[in-house]
Amino acid sequence: MGVNREELFDKVVNLSKRRGFVFQSAEIYGGFRSTYDYGPVGVLLLRNVKEQWWRSMVQLRQDVVGLDAAILSPPSIWEASGHLTNFTDPLVDCRECGSRFRQDKLEDPNSCPGCGSKSSFTEARQFNLMFKTHAGPVIDSAAEVYLRPETAQGMFTNFTNVLNTSRKKPPFGIAQIGKSFRNEITPGNFVFRTREFEQMEMEYFVPPDDSDEWFEYWCKKRMEWYLNLGMKNDSLRLRIHESDELSHYSRATSDIEFSFPWGWDELEGIANRTDYDLNQHAQASGNKLEYNDSGTGERYTPHVIEPAAGATRTAMAFLMDAYDEEEVNGEVRNVLKLDHRLSPYKVAVLPLSKKDELIEPSKEVLDLVQPHWMCDYDQTQAIGRRYRRQDEIGTPYCVTIDFETLEDKAVTVRERDSMNQDRVPINELVEYLSSRLVP
Ligand code: GAP
Repeated sequence: MGVNREELFDKVVNLSKRRGFVFQSAEIYGGFRSTYDYGPVGVLLLRNVKEQWWRSMVQLRQDVVGLDAAILSPPSIWEASGHLTNFTDPLVDCRECGSRFRQDKLEDPNSCPGCGSKSSFTEARQFNLMFKTHAGPVIDSAAEVYLRPETAQGMFTNFTNVLNTSRKKPPFGIAQIGKSFRNEITPGNFVFRTREFEQMEMEYFVPPDDSDEWFEYWCKKRMEWYLNLGMKNDSLRLRIHESDELSHYSRATSDIEFSFPWGWDELEGIANRTDYDLNQHAQASGNKLEYNDSGTGERYTPHVIEPAAGATRTAMAFLMDAYDEEEVNGEVRNVLKLDHRLSPYKVAVLPLSKKDELIEPSKEVLDLVQPHWMCDYDQTQAIGRRYRRQDEIGTPYCVTIDFETLEDKAVTVRERDSMNQDRVPINELVEYLSSRLVP
């Protein structure tokens, strides 16, 4: 049956609220614009996206180590990185209705999308996207600090610390997942562009002559990550940036784009940042940020390849890609065909009825599987409705305990996509699920 592209956005936003993926932040106070809270299943999806990224970027590699740097940072970092001067978007105001827009995102730069007025915009002025606050009780310019607008800088400023403590040598990487903050002029499209969001970034330090090769390597590797987690081939593309699109630090950038309901848009940028950041911080701090090979005596400033993805944006893309509607026995079944590694719950334990004699064995089954996987337990409503509920949040396996279980010590395992059911002895259940829920 499939889902109409025009309707997909509203359906996913609606599902997010209805099933507890994403809530509008401060909703009871009327909502805080473009800020979102992740609900009981949303937090699991987001964690799974981050865990899969960490697994592929850190756990399964010996050339990448992790970091968790501070969010609050002194102006000196952002002065050196160029963000104080360059991290700006062109802002225009409509003289008629007072609305503000990012000039470079306007469909028609002479027409206000708010009120339709023509040629009503002010001259564009550069608006810095960093959030500024004050550290300590005194609110003056000496106490100014910034919330990081990217996680990357913590990895550059810790370059020597990591090099000395991890005993790595180029090519090697530092990976980090964490919150970033940008005072976006036009946040929107649900969690696609927000002022507070999570990033998954890796800085890969390489010998300067090898940077083009590593850039290609990471573009390929990162595309594979999305595909391997079940994202459809047709939903993804790699787009090379034109030279006038490049960030102030980049020599080459390619974006991994997803086919969102409003068109192709960025999921991740892979940039060749050259030695820009290490040089800037070395100059500004007076500390050498170089690699010194004690064996060969070689000394150089590594170049950096940076795959930078948004965790919150990626979680939303996986939701949109997985959402499906099927007709089953004359009824519409909403199903999230998420790869099991991303599914919030891997297993739902469902007693067929609320009768006491089924509750105890159901709890025993739950105790058996819960230490291995995130499980949901639900004893309300008819079993068909509970299956649909689990389909809608993407649970790959439902385990049903029925009256026969009391006799044969077996349960029914239903698989989400095929809806096939297997009868499995309870003492083989963990092994049965383990062979299917591979990490
Ligand atoms: N360190 C490089 C960097 O930050 P970026 O392209 O500005 O590059 C990387 O950001 C990723 O972070 C983007 O591809 C996007 O997925 C995510 N991202 C950026 N701004 C965002 C926002 N306002 N809301 C949600 N995600 C955002």
